[in-house]
Amino acid sequence: MNILLIGSGGREHALAWKIAQSPLLTRLVCAPGNPGIAGMCETRLVKVTDVDGLAALAQEIGADLVVVGPESSLEVGIADRLAELGIPCFGATAAAAQLETSKAFTKQFADRHGLPTAAYGVFEDAALAKSYLNQFDPPYVIKADGLAAGKGVVIAESRTEADAAIDDMLGGRFGQAGARVVIEEFMTGEEASLFALSDGQTAMLLGAAQDHKRAFDGDQGPNTGGMGTYSPTPALTDALVEEARLKMIAPTVAGMAEEGMPYRGVLYAGLMLTPTGPRLVEYNARFGDPECQVLMLRLKSDLVPLLLAAATGMLDKAVVPEWHSEAAICVVLAAKGYPEAPETGSVIVGADQDFGPDVEVFHAGTVLDSGALKAAGGRVLNVCALGATLGQARERAYAAVDRIDWPGGFHRRDIAWRAL
Ligand code: AMP
Ligand code: GLY
Repeated sequence: MNILLIGSGGREHALAWKIAQSPLLTRLVCAPGNPGIAGMCETRLVKVTDVDGLAALAQEIGADLVVVGPESSLEVGIADRLAELGIPCFGATAAAAQLETSKAFTKQFADRHGLPTAAYGVFEDAALAKSYLNQFDPPYVIKADGLAAGKGVVIAESRTEADAAIDDMLGGRFGQAGARVVIEEFMTGEEASLFALSDGQTAMLLGAAQDHKRAFDGDQGPNTGGMGTYSPTPALTDALVEEARLKMIAPTVAGMAEEGMPYRGVLYAGLMLTPTGPRLVEYNARFGDPECQVLMLRLKSDLVPLLLAAATGMLDKAVVPEWHSEAAICVVLAAKGYPEAPETGSVIVGADQDFGPDVEVFHAGTVLDSGALKAAGGRVLNVCALGATLGQARERAYAAVDRIDWPGGFHRRDIAWRAL
């Protein structure tokens, strides 16, 4: 098979690493990729939002499958275009991807289909939004409706801070993405990420992971896109997974089909494990980053037949995925200043050495500059390891982290602390 993979982060490096192991693969091309991905397959400099360019590339290489990494490609309709061309696409149409691209859409969908989630209101008017806060105690949850690169959620400890967030979002801080705000009840509990494949009709679970959203050890500091993950997730028991499948995943896939927006691709449910059971924090229409990295390390089955089955409506006939019994950990190495203002351009030494069979280092935001590897983004490298236990995986991951010489970066030393 010829496969086109879209994206340039650590998630896509992990997907490329796993796809490359498939005996079904003839040719893998990644657009635009990154230096790590370029070390393992062809890359082409086409932007993830350039639908014309990506569709032309898929045709040029005779793609039998296009695998979409980021939500930004889905939002601009890459899946819709590929459907017109008759090219199987692992990724949701722009309409179906609203489960990620519009928080208001998802909350209203949750109402229509009885999904357990936080109480909420949607507002375009600041005064109405502020008066809605009266019925809640702090902390207050305020969200920009659209995609805001992970920065559109404010958990405010005071009314002053909450009011300011509303003014800020409705005042145009996120452009159109902030033209509406969603205000939610604050939920308490541990968070976990649950993944399912869907072909429009059938859903199939594809593992779970836990992320660390805060920048610094002990869950301190600003929210980030994720500083590290681990899988399996002791807090998300099999019984809770089954409850989430029955109350969220299955009705979501059925509801999207019923409403004329069949959902194809990966459905990522951000869960809050509350005292009254799992509740939906948000849906994403893509693999989590860096959740995907630990899932790919633990997945024993060939990924390609699963992605193809989801893309072509054949999941009911697909073989249920098998997993390695080992645990996996991913430690994110970020550029100093991340998430507010990452300092790019610093030199990284030793990222591509041989770390042994149980360690993989994925590139997330790197660039090769006259032979030197440099930081080119916020989250820069993902150091991942497998181990017989989470503890062993963690030791292996940090041993590898310590062999990478990068004074311009920082990372958390406590990934998986809740589970250990
Ligand atoms: P989201 O982008 O919607 O996933 O929100 C980012 C983070 O904000 C989540 O991972 C949670 O930690 C937190 N959060 C979002 N919504 C709520 C809520 N209703 N209650 C408590 N925490 C929330
Ligand atoms: N790691 C969280 C996310 O991908 O949204």
